[in-house]
Amino acid sequence: MTKRYLLAPGPTPVPPEALLAMAMPIIHHRSPDFLPVLDSAKKGLQWLYQTKNDVLILCSTGTGGMVGSVNNFFSPGDKALVVNAGNFGERWTKICKSYGLNVEEIKVDWGYTVDPSVVENALKKDPSIKGVFVQASETSTGVYHDIKALAGIVKGYAETILVVDAISALVAHDLKMDEWGIDVMIGGSQKGLMLPPGLAFVGISEKAWTFAEKSTSPKFYFNFKKERESLSKNQTSFTSPVTLIIGLNESLKMLQTEGLENAFARHEKLAGATRDAIAAIGLEMFTKESPSNAVTAIQAPHGIDGQEIYKNLRVKYGITAAGGQGQAKGKIFRIAHLGYAGTFDVITAIAGVEMVLKGMGHPVKLGTGVAVAQELLMVREG
Ligand SMILES: Cc1ncc(COP(=O)(O)O)c(C=O)c1O
Repeated sequence: MTKRYLLAPGPTPVPPEALLAMAMPIIHHRSPDFLPVLDSAKKGLQWLYQTKNDVLILCSTGTGGMVGSVNNFFSPGDKALVVNAGNFGERWTKICKSYGLNVEEIKVDWGYTVDPSVVENALKKDPSIKGVFVQASETSTGVYHDIKALAGIVKGYAETILVVDAISALVAHDLKMDEWGIDVMIGGSQKGLMLPPGLAFVGISEKAWTFAEKSTSPKFYFNFKKERESLSKNQTSFTSPVTLIIGLNESLKMLQTEGLENAFARHEKLAGATRDAIAAIGLEMFTKESPSNAVTAIQAPHGIDGQEIYKNLRVKYGITAAGGQGQAKGKIFRIAHLGYAGTFDVITAIAGVEMVLKGMGHPVKLGTGVAVAQELLMVREG
């Protein structure tokens, strides 16, 4: 038997509290049993999103939330400005094009973050841009984009909204939806929220709802106005994913007990320890600036295939981390510290990386990175 450790940037491990809650018998989504369940999830998500506005709950993966955020607020021919700094930035472009939007891309080299002044200049040059699309955490490169700065810029344009894919950033980064002025923010269940895949969340500002009034794109399953109406009655428009929403209440309860600031601090600490440990082993970050607190992207040493590191971690030691995506495939591997993550997840990951690299003939002194992580993560007396 090989014991398994899930250290991927989604799906992430699900805590026993949520697993047990989801083992309860199914309740009917139109029965009175379910109404308080959805009401509680609705309020919990507003707390997590730091918003007074509605946060829709969709039965889909995160990409469904991205698709819905294109077809509900925009129309064919609308101009979209997409920050393309990785695999998920590329996804924004593909979705926008599939709904007939006219896409202008800001291409950012993989491993780097977007310079907010580039977005500002693009908006100044073309105020007809209706939407700015970006990731908070670009999971494929391990970069965090400066959402606060971008929201501050877009706020100045009455005819433009900021659409943020926060699927991997939610819980790992402080994203003040109302205070910063984020218009649309998308999350997914299988990341910081510590749940199985299957739920997408979309927070929507009043400004974005005015865009929804004008949208002519086709919509049926992802019809946000209809979902908002259902949500006001503690319902979803179609059969509710009752089990996942029961689990969601449990994970929100755990996060509320921890406190939002503490959850952000925990992610920051785990991410910092991972980076320092990786540096101690002599490895280079793939992320060149503004590293994400959700996932660490590491350059494979010269002459070693990143996919082989990922594969050996899994096959030899039962650790499921992640390889590279798109143009980074083979060049990198990634370790997540997201959701139900703590000290010994980082130590396990670093120990595994040291053992795999040594096994592949790379010069590593076992314990070097582990010792650094232990120092940074140990609880001091007093
Ligand atoms: C930043 C980001 N956006 C979008 C997605 C896509 O989410 P899903 O696979 O849940 O559709 C992911 C998932 O890895 C992600 O990390």
